[in-house]
Amino acid sequence: MILKDEHILITGGKGMLATDLRKELEKEKCKITSIDVDELDICNEKAVHGKLAALKPDILINCAAYTAVDKCETENIATEINGTALKYLAEASANNKIKLIHFSTDYIFSGEFKTPIPEDWKPAPINKYGEGKLVGEKNILNTTGLNFAIFRVQWLYGKNGKNFIDTMLKLSQDRPELNVVNDQIGRPTSTPYLSQLVVTALKADLSGIYHLGPSNYCSWFDLAAYVLKDSKCKVNPIPSSAYPTPATRPLYSVLGLDKIHSALKGNPLLNKTWQELADEYLKD
Ligand SMILES: NC(=O)c1ccc[n+]([C@@H]2O[C@H](COP(=O)([O-])OP(=O)(O)OC[C@H]3O[C@@H](n4cnc5c(N)ncnc54)[C@H](OP(=O)(O)O)[C@@H]3O)[C@@H](O)[C@H]2O)c1
Repeated sequence: MILKDEHILITGGKGMLATDLRKELEKEKCKITSIDVDELDICNEKAVHGKLAALKPDILINCAAYTAVDKCETENIATEINGTALKYLAEASANNKIKLIHFSTDYIFSGEFKTPIPEDWKPAPINKYGEGKLVGEKNILNTTGLNFAIFRVQWLYGKNGKNFIDTMLKLSQDRPELNVVNDQIGRPTSTPYLSQLVVTALKADLSGIYHLGPSNYCSWFDLAAYVLKDSKCKVNPIPSSAYPTPATRPLYSVLGLDKIHSALKGNPLLNKTWQELADEYLKD
């Protein structure tokens, strides 16, 4: 697919990923319409059908989500946004022959696997955020006649949102030491990098479920220690049991990348390491 001349609609357009994705898509000279909840609340079924029928984009990229993982434990609206609303978006996309692109998460997995997780392994979420996102995936998969891609991603950071790296940098200013969990393992992924991968995947016209991320993985402790390697602040590894949070996080949730590697064979983007992405983020 050539993206030039395509009309792409982004929902949740003011979010962290959406902002960088828009910048990346602008390089392709396609028509972009980016809207957030003030213009379209994806939980409003009638509004979703009306907006998609009126705009009829070629591609809808849904970046709208409720991403405060701990608050999802108590806020019922989170499952509406991350789960139920995907039924409306998927049905309206199918009715209007729009390709739907959606983002899901490693948190649909339990954390019990010991090797990188392929797309077809069984989800078993252990927190409400993961449960809601899994409902969203199922709503897409159950929609007849829909052309879609679901990109599962993890540990995102970008300039336009609250993120782990910024938090570590900020805390390191005032504290001599930081304790960071070293038993949760994943692929820290910058949103500019993810946006490049998504645009590449769109051009390749990929459909179905794909895991995306850099070529290697680490713990939150590794990431913090790397980012603060030149700081006076000391970073100490601790187990998750010493840092309780309202939502339990999966321990090992490394997304397996074999499927995207064979789909985009030889693309140099796939060789990028999490360290390279962090370096680019810190330099920017
Ligand atoms: N961040 C991560 O580490 C991570 C990890 C795995 C997967 N993901 C997935 O990646 C995608 C992008 O995440 P992100 O971190 O870029 O998200 P984000 O920064 O939280 O952006 C989400 C956007 O959606 C908007 N929104 C919330 N409720 C809405 C509604 N009812 N209708 C329309 N828009 C609504 C938000 O507006 P308000 O800010 O006003 O609420 C915000 O602008 C999401 O699907 C997320 O689940 C993220």
